[in-house]
Amino acid sequence: MKNQTNQWWKESVVYQIYPRSFYDSNKDGIGDIKGIISKLDYLSELGVDVVWLSPVYESPNDDNGYDISHYERIMDDFGTMDDWDQLLNDMHERGMKLVMDLVVNHTSDEHAWFAEARKSKDNPYRDYYIWRPGEEGSKPTDWEASFGGSAWDYDEKTEEYYLHMFSKKQPDLNWENPEMRSSIYDMMKFWLDKGIDGFRMDVINMISKKEFLSSYQDYHNGSIEKKNYEFNGARVHDFLQEMNQEVLSHYDVMTVGECPRVSPDLARLYTDEARNELNMVFQFEHMGLDKIKGKSKWDLKPLRLLDLKQNLTKWQKELEQIGWNSLYWNNHDQPRAVSRFGDDTTYRRESAKMLATVLHMMKGTPYIYQGEEIGMTNVHFDSIDSYKDIETLNMYKERILGQDEKDVMHAIHVKSRDNARTPMQWDATHNAGFTEGTPWIEVNPNFTDINVEQALLDQDSIFHYYKKLIELRKQHEIIVHGKYDLILEDHPAIFAYTRTLGNEMLLVVNNFYSDNVPFILPDTIHVDNYELMISNYEVPCGEQIKEFNLRSYESRVYKLTI
Ligand code: NOJ
Repeated sequence: MKNQTNQWWKESVVYQIYPRSFYDSNKDGIGDIKGIISKLDYLSELGVDVVWLSPVYESPNDDNGYDISHYERIMDDFGTMDDWDQLLNDMHERGMKLVMDLVVNHTSDEHAWFAEARKSKDNPYRDYYIWRPGEEGSKPTDWEASFGGSAWDYDEKTEEYYLHMFSKKQPDLNWENPEMRSSIYDMMKFWLDKGIDGFRMDVINMISKKEFLSSYQDYHNGSIEKKNYEFNGARVHDFLQEMNQEVLSHYDVMTVGECPRVSPDLARLYTDEARNELNMVFQFEHMGLDKIKGKSKWDLKPLRLLDLKQNLTKWQKELEQIGWNSLYWNNHDQPRAVSRFGDDTTYRRESAKMLATVLHMMKGTPYIYQGEEIGMTNVHFDSIDSYKDIETLNMYKERILGQDEKDVMHAIHVKSRDNARTPMQWDATHNAGFTEGTPWIEVNPNFTDINVEQALLDQDSIFHYYKKLIELRKQHEIIVHGKYDLILEDHPAIFAYTRTLGNEMLLVVNNFYSDNVPFILPDTIHVDNYELMISNYEVPCGEQIKEFNLRSYESRVYKLTI
């Protein structure tokens, strides 16, 4: 059995900032770096240790900054490199760390490398990207891009197609090319030498495409089924180990790799400390439990708590000794947690706190997405014209041809990435205090009730509950390192588990629904002493622990001596 080591990133709570929607300091309707600087005291008050900043690099914004045209420049919309230097400095002064987004599966088609590459077939940068001739006048393969349409786009000048797994303005880089890799490593060093504390790596398990590309012939003539070859290609581990050796091992930083379609077996390979690849991955299995299997994220089905428990428990157990979990309910690509997994009307406060408890008491590094800490909700814009996200708009265009608009809009209300991208709700004034200009995307009209100012004033707010959860992590080693075990496995409404370290145990009990439900402690747990650590309701003094009634979305965490 291997021992997981103590590392600062295991003890940390990470807060994700989506800069475009965080805070606008210059009235242009777009959040910016100076805006973030002015809110650092707020983040200190919350107590988070690390900020992950979604891309702030130069970009034509086809995919809101995930299409980078210059890796070492700051986007004008967000400010200047001086602003960024100030941000890093001010964060470090407050004891906070900064993790930058690393988007190296693709660049923007406006990146200088791509501009060169498309000039001629013998251009030195040609091979930085993936080019193929057409098959008898048609596209090289029938692969589809993530945002809809073909994954190939024709370049008239050189009469070949280039691969783009996302929008056509996001050509995929060719990781087989050592010079390309070395350019990426230089860029990473540029930021690390400036003093950053790590990288969140965008779709990093898509960078190895050799078999994906060569599999086409077999797939085409029917000898193999289409598999997800674009994920977890054979060379990805070599590339990550090389990146580690060349770059990361020289710095004390954290890495989290975004890895769609990753199983626990693979996640162990990526995060095994002995293999020197990544510290943790973002896996997506729990994000897929409310869609119809084999269909797209827009094909909705209700979530069953039993599936969620089973899935999260699988990840807890499988990464128990090797690897490390990242814990998240939402991010800039996902709907708002309280709307998706809780109740965003009657029990918004209770259910947001319950979800926070479930997540923060598990083993792994918790991530908070901006606004989650005040219980921000999904938005229901009436018209498609209010939406900005490329994925949402492309899906609307495709589906509206064959489906009822009401159904299409319903799926958008439930799943659009713009649910997470409406401006941060700072106060009850015009535009939620986000901007004095016209916001790039409309604010959620519920900002008059749900906002930071109000949350800070109310000691019983979701914000103060998150703050307490973060404090508890600092005080109790068991929250970081305790062994996880699910209890009441088949209970359809209660999500309960224990964490054990030495003779201490945490008992974490959550009612996932609004109906009251009795909790009965399993006989297998023998308790000497117990005390309540945190709960989202008043718990009557002296209430015994063997059996109690859980109210709507009630959460309790007890610390036991066993
Ligand atoms: C994952 C990012 O989180 C998402 O926002 C982006 O659109 C794609 N990768 C492409 O970079």
